[in-house]
Amino acid sequence: MIKKNNLKIKEIYLKKIKILKKYNEAYFNKSRPIVDDSVYDDLKKEILQLETNHTFLKSADSPSANVGFKPSKNFKKVKHIVPMLSLNNAFDREDLVNFEKKIVNFLSLKNSDLLQYSAEPKIDGISASLFYKDGKFVQGLSRGDGVEGEDITNNLNTITDIPKVLIGNNIPSEIDIRGEVFIRNSDFKKLNEIFANPRNAASGSLRQKNPEKTKKIPLKFIAYTFGYSKKLNISNQLQFLKMLKNWGFKVNNFNKIIKGIDNLIQYHNEIESKRKEIDFDIDGIVYKINDFGLQKRLGFVANAPRWAIAHKFSSNKSTSEIFKIEIQVGRTGALTPVAKIKPVNIGGVLVSNATLHNEDEIERKDIRVGDIVTVERAGDVIPRVIAVDFKKRNKNSKKFNFPTKCPSCGSKTIKEYNRITKKFDAVRRCVNDGYGCEKIAIEKIKHFVSKEAFNIDGLGKKIIESFWELKLIRYPQDIFNLDYKKISDLDGWGNLSVANLKYSIEDKKNISLSKFIYSLGIRHIGQENAKLLSKTLKNPNKFFALGIGNNFEEIINIDGIGETQIKSLKDFFSNEKNLIVLNELKKNLKIINEKEVSKNNILGEKTFMFTGKLVGISRAEAKSLVENKSGKIISNVSKKLNFLVTGEKPTVRKINDAKNLNVKIISQSEFLKMLNTKDS
Ligand code: IVH
Repeated sequence: MIKKNNLKIKEIYLKKIKILKKYNEAYFNKSRPIVDDSVYDDLKKEILQLETNHTFLKSADSPSANVGFKPSKNFKKVKHIVPMLSLNNAFDREDLVNFEKKIVNFLSLKNSDLLQYSAEPKIDGISASLFYKDGKFVQGLSRGDGVEGEDITNNLNTITDIPKVLIGNNIPSEIDIRGEVFIRNSDFKKLNEIFANPRNAASGSLRQKNPEKTKKIPLKFIAYTFGYSKKLNISNQLQFLKMLKNWGFKVNNFNKIIKGIDNLIQYHNEIESKRKEIDFDIDGIVYKINDFGLQKRLGFVANAPRWAIAHKFSSNKSTSEIFKIEIQVGRTGALTPVAKIKPVNIGGVLVSNATLHNEDEIERKDIRVGDIVTVERAGDVIPRVIAVDFKKRNKNSKKFNFPTKCPSCGSKTIKEYNRITKKFDAVRRCVNDGYGCEKIAIEKIKHFVSKEAFNIDGLGKKIIESFWELKLIRYPQDIFNLDYKKISDLDGWGNLSVANLKYSIEDKKNISLSKFIYSLGIRHIGQENAKLLSKTLKNPNKFFALGIGNNFEEIINIDGIGETQIKSLKDFFSNEKNLIVLNELKKNLKIINEKEVSKNNILGEKTFMFTGKLVGISRAEAKSLVENKSGKIISNVSKKLNFLVTGEKPTVRKINDAKNLNVKIISQSEFLKMLNTKDS
C-alpha cells in the first residue's frame, strides 16, 4: 500500500519537474517565459514541499539541486526537530565563577560541591545533526540558523567516521546525533585548494553540490550530543559519550569528568598547552553539567543552555601598525572606532581590522594613528587592539580626536547617562534614531534580513550595501518590492540568481510575530525580549496598536521588560518613519500569531507573581517552571494577576494589594502542587 502510494507521489512529482523544465527552458534558454512569475514560483514551491515531505524524491532538475548565487541554495531546508543551540563564552576565571554561581542559584543549592562537569575540547569545525531511524542513518542536516538546517545527507554520507548503521546495544528507535565535521591540520596542508583555514575548508567541502567533490576532502566527524531522541534511557553525559562509542562513533579522547572551577582551569591549561600537538583546531573547552536531570531543570536562555559554557583559549596575538582609525556607525547609532592595520596573519587568519571598542577605550589607552599595537584574535571573536608600544611611537604623533558629530549624517552625538550605574555610557551615539542616518539605516536593513530575523538567503551584507548604493533599497519594506528587472541587468546577476533571490524573499513573507518584532531592531529588544512581547501580545495587531494608542499597560507587567525597554519601545513608536515602515511591512507580510504552546498548556496563560523567599527552589527555576507550562510571570500586583505565590516573609503591601484586588493568594506548596498535579 505504502509502495503504491509512493509510486503515485513520485509520478506527480516527476510530472511537476517536467513542467518546470519546460518553463525553465523557455525562460532561461529562449528568454521567452511562457507563464507568469507567480505560476512559476508556485510550482517551484510545490516541488520543494513534496521533497520535504517525501525524502525519497530526487531529481537533477529539481530547484533544490540547482546552483544559485550561494552554495546553500543547493540544499533543501529542513527544520530541526529540536533546535541546534549555541553556547555562551567564558574567557577567564571570573566568567566561570559567574557561570557556576548562576547554576547554584537557579537550582537553589547550598554550594557547588556536587556539580560535575563533562569537559570536552571544542573542535573548531562545522556542526551537523544526523538522524538515525532504527539505527540507520537517514538524514543529515547542517546547523543553518539553529531552527532550520540544510539537508546535506549526501555529503555527510561520504564521511567514513559517520556510521551508516549503528552497532551495539540500547539503540533508540529515533535519535539525532550531533557533532562536529572537521578536517585534520595535516590533511589541510595537503589540500590543493586555497582556503584560509581548516574550518573554511571543511565548510566549503561540506557544502559542495557534488558529493564526489566532498569525498575527495578527508572530512572527519566527532560526536558529542543529541537533539531529539525516542526511548533513550541515559542519565548523564558520561554515559552518553560511552554509548556513542559503543554505537560506532568517534568521540574526543580528551573528554573528562571534572568537579570544581580550579580543576576546570587546570584541565583548560593542560589542553591548551597540548594544542599544537593535536592534529585538529580546538578553540576552547566546553563544560557541560554532567547530570541530564539537572540539565533539564536548568533549561535555556535565548539561544544557549544554562548548563553549558565554552571556555575559550587565550588568543593568538601579533603586532602591526595602525594606519587609520575609522568610525563605524552601528544599527543603534553607536560609534565604534576600528583600527585599520597593516594586514597581519594571526593564527592562520589575515587580520586587517581590529576593534578599539569605544571612545573611552581610545582615551584610556591613548591609541593613535601610526602606533605599533598588539592585536589579539580569540577564535570567532572580532580581533581587538590590546596594547600600544609607546617606545615605538613617533614623536610627531597626535592624540586621536574622536568625532563629536556623526561621520555618516552629521548629527549630534551623545553619551547617555545611566541612572542605575550613575555613570555616563562609554559609547558615543548618533542621535538620529531612524532612517535619516545612512549608516544606521543600512545596518538596520542588514539586521532585518539577518539569520535570526528574516533570514533571507542571498541578501548578505555586501548585497545590501550594493543595493543601497544603487538606491534599490532605502527601507526594509523595499526588499519586498525590488526591481528585479534592474537587478538582472547588474553585473554578476544572471536570470537564475535573480529567480533564486525572488524565491527566497517570497518564501520569507510569512513570519512569526516574535521574529518580526526582533527584526525591527528596536534598541534593547533582542530575541529574548521579542519573544516575551510576542508571547504576551500574541496578535500582531496588538503590537501595531502600541503605536496608535500608546497603550503599554499590558507589557509593563511582563517580567523581564523593564523601564529601559518600555522607553525604547515608546521612542520607537513615537517616530513617524518607524510607523510608516510598520505600515508598509504590514501590507507586504503575513505576520503569524504567536503559537500557543498546546502540548504543555497546563496553566492556560494564568499569571503568577512571587513574594518572599521560596524554599528549596530559586525564583528563576520557579519562573521557568511556570513558563514551560504556558503560564506567565508578571512583576506587579494588578487586576491581571491570577495568583500571588507567597514564600517566607512575604511583602505585606503586596498581600494587601492582592486582597484588595481579589487576587488569589497561594502558598509555595500549593503552587508546586498546582504544577505537579495537573501535569501528566
Ligand atoms: S554542545 C547546547 N559540545 O560549539 C549544546 N558543542 O557554540 C551545544 N562544539 O555549534 C553544543 N565541540 O559546533 C557541544 N563538545 C562539544 C562541542 C561543541 C564543538 C561547537 C558546536 C556548536 C558550538 C556552540
